[in-house]
Amino acid sequence: MLCSDVPDIPDVVVAALRSAGCVFAEDEARLIVSTARTPAELTAMVDRRAAGLPLEHVLGWAEFCGLRIAVEPGVFVPRRRTEFLVQQAVALAREAPLVVDLCCGSGAVGAALAASLPGAELHAADIDPAAVRCARRNVGEAHVYEGDLFAPLPSALRGRVDVLAANVPYVPTEEVGLLPPEARDHEPLGALDGGGDGLDILRRVTAEAARWLTPGGVLLVETSERQAPAARQAFADGGLVPRLAVSEELYSTVVIGTKPWSQNEAQNEAENKAQNEALVTSPPPSLCN
Ligand SMILES: C[S@@+](CC[C@H](N)C(=O)[O-])C[C@H]1O[C@@H](n2cnc3c(N)ncnc32)[C@H](O)[C@@H]1O
Repeated sequence: MLCSDVPDIPDVVVAALRSAGCVFAEDEARLIVSTARTPAELTAMVDRRAAGLPLEHVLGWAEFCGLRIAVEPGVFVPRRRTEFLVQQAVALAREAPLVVDLCCGSGAVGAALAASLPGAELHAADIDPAAVRCARRNVGEAHVYEGDLFAPLPSALRGRVDVLAANVPYVPTEEVGLLPPEARDHEPLGALDGGGDGLDILRRVTAEAARWLTPGGVLLVETSERQAPAARQAFADGGLVPRLAVSEELYSTVVIGTKPWSQNEAQNEAENKAQNEALVTSPPPSLCN
């Protein structure tokens, strides 16, 4: 873009955003000014942002993995930290994989995976009709279904999924009230509240994932660092071999579970894990005597 193409940012816009408490008022003003098509629209957008609407809902889009993802009011705003889940999935995927984006919201994860994995066949699903509508705008030719977790997926996908990405709600119920007002007041509770310890939906996904994955296929779910041990256990209980991936840069923790090729492999993994843990936790022999 030439410098002359950058629209002027009226001081009054920056001032309005700053006095409404927007910390990055200049950056936000630049985005709003470059998105508004008319002066009236600019005024309305600044008013909505000053009233506390998330910037992405005001703009109508969010940047995610270098893509511009349409985000409608009432739909969860994709977070930058979730780009780490996408990176992990891309690194693990085979050629032309079958990808499912469960709890897809705007479809950001699925859209990013499809953009990075040539030949991928993408299916996405969400329980919220607003999210489903929004995802359909973002995922092009992919199939988007409405319903509870796996229920709306075609049964023909069973046992064939290479990458199952599920950014489920994972905020413990009691902590929803502690979220920033932008999330608390403008994103649907069903996109945030993960139940008592935040892992209710994750456990429902891990309990069923192995039936949908192909051997060697992977389930990826984002959690918090604090929830990671319990989340890992849920993966193991669901017959998957779990491991953690952590990005300090993006403050992101992702549990990755692989469906073993055979029951034997699952058994060996469990035994190796138990042995490794025993090695770490046992005191050296000299201290035992
Ligand atoms: C944290 S948001 C993630 C959205 C999107 N994957 C992303 O990363 O931007 C969780 C999503 O899960 C959906 N959801 C919650 N419970 C669900 C269920 N039982 N079945 C399907 N989707 C569900 C919500 O509607 C919401 O869109």
